[in-house]
Amino acid sequence: MKTYKIAVIPGDGIGTEVIEAGWMVLEAAAERYGFSLAATTFPWSCDYYLEHGRMMPEDGIETLRRFDSILLGAVGWPQRVPDSVSLHGLLLPIRKAFDLYVNARPHRLLDGVVGPLRAENFDILCIRENTEGEYSGAGGRIHVGTPDEVAVETSVFTRKGVERVLRYGFEQARRRKGKLASVTKSNAQKHSMVFWDEVTDLVAADYPDVAVTHYHIDAIAARFVMQPDSLDVVVASNLFGDILTDIGAAIQGGLGFAPSANINPSGGVPSMFEPVHGSAPDIAGRGSANPLATIWSGALMLDHLGEEAAATSIVDAMSRFTRNGAMRSPDQGGTAGTIDIARAIASDLS
Ligand code: NAI
Ligand code: MG
Repeated sequence: MKTYKIAVIPGDGIGTEVIEAGWMVLEAAAERYGFSLAATTFPWSCDYYLEHGRMMPEDGIETLRRFDSILLGAVGWPQRVPDSVSLHGLLLPIRKAFDLYVNARPHRLLDGVVGPLRAENFDILCIRENTEGEYSGAGGRIHVGTPDEVAVETSVFTRKGVERVLRYGFEQARRRKGKLASVTKSNAQKHSMVFWDEVTDLVAADYPDVAVTHYHIDAIAARFVMQPDSLDVVVASNLFGDILTDIGAAIQGGLGFAPSANINPSGGVPSMFEPVHGSAPDIAGRGSANPLATIWSGALMLDHLGEEAAATSIVDAMSRFTRNGAMRSPDQGGTAGTIDIARAIASDLS
């Protein structure tokens, strides 16, 4: 039987609760589809930091490298550890070390979920460049604190970086409806974004079966709200993708539903799957978090590992669950607990 080695990092707050729920569904899917998941759980979190002075051990990255995938809950507890420490001590080093250059987030309404829009039939896969662009960290400040102070933050776009994320987008468009939206602001940013447009056209030549549209970020932000059903795959830079995916999470019913995948498509390193939401200290410890974002992230992990049928079965069971509507988590106006929801979905896999 095929066994996948999964590094599980529950993290902080509701991270531990939604991971327990997500894992229950993943194990049920594995059993049903004839493969096995071997989990090793790592306690790396803000608690770990307070005890050890670091978010993960010095050889944490090397430890993770041996796994097929990483499943992460959420990290952060701002009252006790500054977010800059928790984020830079765990999540960002993992993304960087394994060059997880694709951040992929599906945005669609599960059956029966009421979003804020009139449109219901949208199905967007947003792909955000995850390693460079506006978040490259290149820059500095001089004359700090004086009237002559200067702050410079430089976007970095490389041919390799832009081309590889677009290529991934085109591959996904081929598996879906065959449409790709390339997002820039090339009317105003005449160097980096014109470059992005050029690389888009170059890569597009290899995918004559995919219909490409160039959008400016402001126009596509409006389109996410007004005509989300006109979009399929959307590829954007780090900053633009960051903003668009928050709109995407909002229109799909909120953070309780939004899953994400941090992927290195060339393989050889573990990719990382996590809900978009954080550790939600305001509701942590009550067993009331909505686990659907994590369960969906687990399905994205199985799909990436090549277990497409099991992944589809999880998403289908989630859709039946939300369509039925009898059980809802508190963020959806109900009273169902995190584990009860997971149990209902795990027992209804087809
Ligand atoms: P958050 O996503 O944790 O919470 C925002 C709001 O959404 C809260 O009211 C929360 O109760 C609610 N919420 C989030 N997930 C939910 C779920 N599954 N079910 C029901 N309600 C849910 O964002 P916040 O409060 O800004 O950040 C809290 C901590 O999480 C911070 O330390 C932050 O840095 C960290 N964080 C970590 C992320 C990660 O690990 N990838 C992502 C975002 C934030
Ligand atoms: Mg964001």
